[in-house]
Amino acid sequence: MAFISRSAAAAADSFRPVLDFFEANARERAAGGATADFTFGNPNEMPLAGLVDALRDAAVPRDPSWFAYKTNEDEPREVLARSLEAELDLPFEPEDIALTQGAFGAIALAFSLLLEPGDEVVIPQPGWFCYAPLLVGRGCRATAAPLAPGSYDLDVDAIAQAMTPRTRIVVVNSPANPTGRIYGHTALGDLAAAVSAASDRFGRRIFILSDEPYRRIRYDGAGFVSPAAVYPWTLVDYSYGKILLAPGQRLGYLALSPTMPAADRGEFRGALVTSQMALGWGFADALMQHALPRLETLSIDIDALASRRDRLLGAMEHWGYRMVRPEGTFYLWGRAPGGDAERFAAFLKPHGVRVMPGTVFDCPSDFRLCLTATDEMVERALPAFQAAAEALGP
Ligand SMILES: Cc1ncc(COP(=O)(O)O)c(C=O)c1O
Repeated sequence: MAFISRSAAAAADSFRPVLDFFEANARERAAGGATADFTFGNPNEMPLAGLVDALRDAAVPRDPSWFAYKTNEDEPREVLARSLEAELDLPFEPEDIALTQGAFGAIALAFSLLLEPGDEVVIPQPGWFCYAPLLVGRGCRATAAPLAPGSYDLDVDAIAQAMTPRTRIVVVNSPANPTGRIYGHTALGDLAAAVSAASDRFGRRIFILSDEPYRRIRYDGAGFVSPAAVYPWTLVDYSYGKILLAPGQRLGYLALSPTMPAADRGEFRGALVTSQMALGWGFADALMQHALPRLETLSIDIDALASRRDRLLGAMEHWGYRMVRPEGTFYLWGRAPGGDAERFAAFLKPHGVRVMPGTVFDCPSDFRLCLTATDEMVERALPAFQAAAEALGP
């Protein structure tokens, strides 16, 4: 490429497979082809009434500067600090919270605050497919650390082996996309010990980025522990896109663990606003900041997701699929019949059923289903899943 910078070209190469998949899927949907779409976490039903009301209310200006330039406004940060304290039992401080364009924006902010070109970030695999493109665009590298085979638990030894003197961040995503696993206190404690030991060994502080956009989407009364509770040098990111199932309305945050030593936190505090400016005014829009106190209280119907999960799991396991039972997120992860996810996806296509092949996650034998499909789509897809199991084998 003649004009595009090396970093933009590297990000383009890295984003390309998922973007191609996303665009092809959108074209097929527009053409009426994908009638049972289980690919991305997008809505298939009308938005939450409470969300619409909150946005409508927040759109009515109360003063002349209602839509003025906003950085990280006081009121939403105070609401969030109190809410995070109640939820995670940690005394978050408003000054340690940056309001961002979703989790994407918060992750980009964390990377820009912490990473030098050439730095490495450890990512448990299979994991979300956008960490690596965000990194290569900054001249940094994603280092894969496999999750425990079969159970997809955190494999702390694998993470310990993946850390090098260039490692600056270890990403923890719990509940995890695509596996739906939630990591417990013991695993996170072990991880904290390993990250501390590596920081000491290399003479360089390694941070945990706790990517928690699915934190409130949990099933069967499952608990949640944030790495922020066990490792002081943790940055937490969150998005409202999942819990409201409105990912096109960008709102999220990056929050520093209150257990981080005050001097270290002070350094970050001083850099939050300027780093967001440097990212191209990387703040949540005025409208979303005004709406945040109400949005914080809303949720899609988690019980409906749970029954969709159970309906799919029950039927698919009966036909011999090997699936992971998710504890959280709105995904189902399993092994494609016959062990070839692309072939499986191609088999389903003429039936109007779309799944995400694991190739996007570097797992060509596996596939992901998104539970934001409607119940009707589930019922329409089940005969195709049965036919695939019969045709393609175990
Ligand atoms: C694990 C994970 N992190 C971050 C994000 C980004 O979330 P958002 O688009 O709401 O910013 C996603 C979205 O799919 C995700 O799955």
